[in-house]
Parts: sequence; structure tokens; C-alpha cells
Amino acid sequence: MNISVIGSGYVGLVTGAVFSDMGNDVICVDIDESRVRMLQGGECPIYEPRLPEMIAHNRREGRLEFTTSTAFAVRRSEIVFICVGTPPKEDGRTDLSYVEAAAQDIAGALNGPKIIVTKSTVPVGTGDFVRKIIEAHRHDGTPFEVVSNPEFLREGQAIRDTLQPDRIVIGTSSEAAAARLSELYRPIERPILITDMHSAEIIKYASNAFLATKISFINSVANLCERAGADVKAVTKGIGADARIGPAFLEAGLGYGGSCFPKDVDSLMYTSREFGTPFEILKSVAAENDSRVPRFAQRIVERLGTGAPAPLAGRRIAILGLAFKPDTDDMREAKSVEICSRLRQAGASLRTYDPVATEKARPLIGEENVEYCRNAYEAAQGADAAVIVTEWREFIQLNLARLRDAMSQPIIFDGRNIYTPAQVAAAGIEYHSIGRPSVGPRET
Ligand code: NAD
Ligand code: UGA
Repeated sequence: MNISVIGSGYVGLVTGAVFSDMGNDVICVDIDESRVRMLQGGECPIYEPRLPEMIAHNRREGRLEFTTSTAFAVRRSEIVFICVGTPPKEDGRTDLSYVEAAAQDIAGALNGPKIIVTKSTVPVGTGDFVRKIIEAHRHDGTPFEVVSNPEFLREGQAIRDTLQPDRIVIGTSSEAAAARLSELYRPIERPILITDMHSAEIIKYASNAFLATKISFINSVANLCERAGADVKAVTKGIGADARIGPAFLEAGLGYGGSCFPKDVDSLMYTSREFGTPFEILKSVAAENDSRVPRFAQRIVERLGTGAPAPLAGRRIAILGLAFKPDTDDMREAKSVEICSRLRQAGASLRTYDPVATEKARPLIGEENVEYCRNAYEAAQGADAAVIVTEWREFIQLNLARLRDAMSQPIIFDGRNIYTPAQVAAAGIEYHSIGRPSVGPRET
């Protein structure tokens, strides 16, 4: 099939790469000229495992190309995916201006029947809005269908998630459009759920909000465990063993970040209020999430601090991990930004390290009282404590004895529970983690 993808970010690039890999002819569009130039020059603008190889392979095979011209792409396509950003506005509602602009560009280029598919995460009713824009801007009565096909991929494992999704949701009242999209997805052999468009739009937000709720729930349990002297890992195992609950997405930590959960929880609250059915439970979900970093920073200040107003003055702290999660360089809503800001405000100087996100982190974290290091041991050099912010695999495999020897004071604050308390204590390091008792160093 001939496909175009409008918006070549995390979702658009992965979607374009996978569809081309399945044998379709795909044109990816972006308004960002430098991004398109990079892609045309064989460079991948984002860090996502397996993506650069898949893009390179399909470009070589002549099935994948990049352009800044929506008109060029749309004219040559039967199916057009809208994958532009839908960032949050100040009040929590979704900024649909990129979707609106993309729909206008698509409308201006219609030269025959098309299926226009919204893959961007958009509030219920946006498909109707897209249809109206296209009706208003097309030159003649060229027929088209609008379909909602929300995306559920996770960054860091986006190719895998796209090839093996738990389900594919196709929201449309058009049997012909549903059949055509089902045909497109058929090779990946995963369950396809066909719904009306409004339900498909709500499925996306309800899924993200439910996952965010699981995270805030287990983080609240972790708070209780810390006070009661229990172990949140044991509790998670106990509740996750109940098939009705399941173990997934119950990792206690610094809370959820990234480009989607925070904005999508806010957007669902906003939409629900607009419809007169306030989604009260999500207020607590967001509030618990907002409290994670202040609470953790406070524990660091209490352990290392010397007194107000700059309790961490003279303290050097290693920050391990800057990206919002492992296997990505995405810094959107990364917890590292707030942690670094709070620790510096308290007077600390920081030595940070991330395997891939350093360059994207610099403009957000700044240069004052921060050094960007080349590895975890360098970051730990002379540090009074090391803070684990992102659970990169290479941190899980660190040589803890070497880390201890690099530090001036061997203390780890683990915001992602990547070690067992016994393992860290055995390496002669004091260990503070989430929802588990703190332990002192043990003689080895
Ligand atoms: P992104 O910011 O990485 O990419 C969006 C791209 O669209 C940018 O490169 C931008 O320049 C481009 N763009 C904006 N307006 C355009 C236009 N009119 N024409 C052509 N290009 C245009 O965003 P993303 O992370 O890929 O997210 C895209 C959408 O998918 C959002 O709605 C998001 O909520 C949703 N989503 C994201 C993920 C994820 O993991 N990132 C997963 C599922 C769903
Ligand atoms: C999330 C969803 O998992 C995807 O299904 C969805 O498509 C995507 O949002 C989206 O709509 O953009 P993503 O943000 O890439 O994907 O990453 P996740 O793995 O879901 O992690 C999100 C945040 O939750 C991270 O900050 C992570 O550290 C945190 N998290 C995750 C926890 O704190 N505990 C957990 O158990 C799981």
C-alpha cells in the first residue's frame, strides 16, 4: 500500500519504518527541515533501539523516503497517518494546533479517495474536528474517511511494541476503511479491535491513565512501607500474583515522567470536566506523582544536610541517569531535571552521567554547578552520595566496589530500586531506596 506519515517524531518514524519494513511504500513528512535533512542524509534524529537500522534498510530498498512536503506525500498515498505532537497547554487541555495544521495541509492535497488516520493521542471528538477541517479545506467533493488508530508503543522498545502490540484499535464507522486498515495490519497477526471513533479515542487516554494510576498506587504503598518497615518489592510480588491485578507497571520509584503519562492524565481530567463528569481519582494520581521527587530530595537533604538555608552546600552528588526512562534519549518530563534543580537549590554541586541523553539534557539542566561525565565511575568520583534516577541496564551491572572506592562517602540513594539492599550493603555502601528499609554498609 502507499502510505504517508505526517510528523516524523518517535511515533511517526517508528510507524513509517515498520510499515515500510512490511513491504509498503511509505513517505514520512515533517515540518522541521533540519530533521528531514538528517533523515535524508541517513541519520536518525532520536535514540530508539533498532530504528536506525530499520530506516536504513528500507531506504536502501526504496520503500521509505522523507520530505517536508505534505502535499507531495498525500498525493501519492491511499492512507495518511497523522502522527504530529499533541502537547499540553497550561490548563491541562491538549494543544490541537499541530493536528489542525496537518489536517489543513492534507485537505489541500486531496486528489482522490483517502483514509486519514489519527494516530496522535487526541481527546474524544477530535476525529470529528479533523473531518470538519478537511471538509472545509478540500477543493472539491473528493471522498475521504477519518479513522482513529491510537498508538500504544513505549519508547525504548517502540519497534517491538509496534510489531507485537497487545491489540490494534481501529475506530471508525466505515466498514471499508476498517477493512483496509485491518488489511494493512494483517501481517503482524495481532488482535484487532474495531470500535466507533469516540470509543477508540477514549481507549487511548483510559489506558494511559490506568497505567499511571497503577504507578501512583504502588508509590503510595511504598510510602506506607517506608514508615511501617515493610518491603514494597515483597508487597508488589504478593499483590501482582493475583491474576486480576497482575505484576506489570507496579515498579515503585520516582514516579512517571515522559511525554505522555503526565500530559494524558491532565488531558483526560480536563476532558472529563468539560463533559461534566470530573475524574476525581486522577487528581490524586497526579498529586502523588508530583510529590515523588520532593519527597526523595527531602530524604537526601535529611541524610546529608547540615542546616538551612543551603543544607547541601559543599556536597558533591553523582546523578546516574538523566533520560526519563532507559533506552531512550527523551528528556520530556524527565525526573532528573527536577531532582537536579532541587539538589542544586539546596547547595549541592552535581556530577551527572547518562549513556545517551546528555546532549538533550544539557539545555534543560544547565551548566551551573553541574559536570557532565563520561561514565558512572567518573560521575561518582569524590561524591558524597550517588543518586540513581534512571534504571539503565549498565547501572544495574555496575561494579559496586569500584563505585564505592571512587566516592568520598559511599552512600546510594536509589530512586528506581535497581539493587537489593543486601547486595549494596555487602559492597560496603549505605543504601536508601524506595519503599524498603535503608541499610548501612556491612563489612565484607
Ligand atoms: P514528537 O514531538 O517526537 O514528534 C512530532 C513531530 O511532528 C515533530 O517532529 C514535529 O516537527 C512534527 N510536526 C508538527 N506539526 C507538523 C505538521 N503540520 N506537519 C508535519 N510534521 C509536523 O512526538 P511523538 O512523541 O512522536 O508523539 C506524537 C503523538 O503520538 C502525540 O500525540 C503523542 O501523545 C502520541 N504518542 C506518543 C508516544 C511516544 O512514546 N512518544 C506513544 C504513543 C502515542
Ligand atoms: C507510555 C505507555 O506505556 C505506552 O503504552 C504509550 O503508548 C505511551 O506512554 C504514550 O502514550 O506515549 P512511555 O511513556 O514510552 O509509554 O514509557 P513507559 O514505559 O510507560 O514509562 C512511563 C513512565 O512511567 C516512566 O517515567 C517510567 O519510569 C514510569 N514507570 C513505569 C514507573 O514508575 N513504574 C512502572 O512500573 C512503569
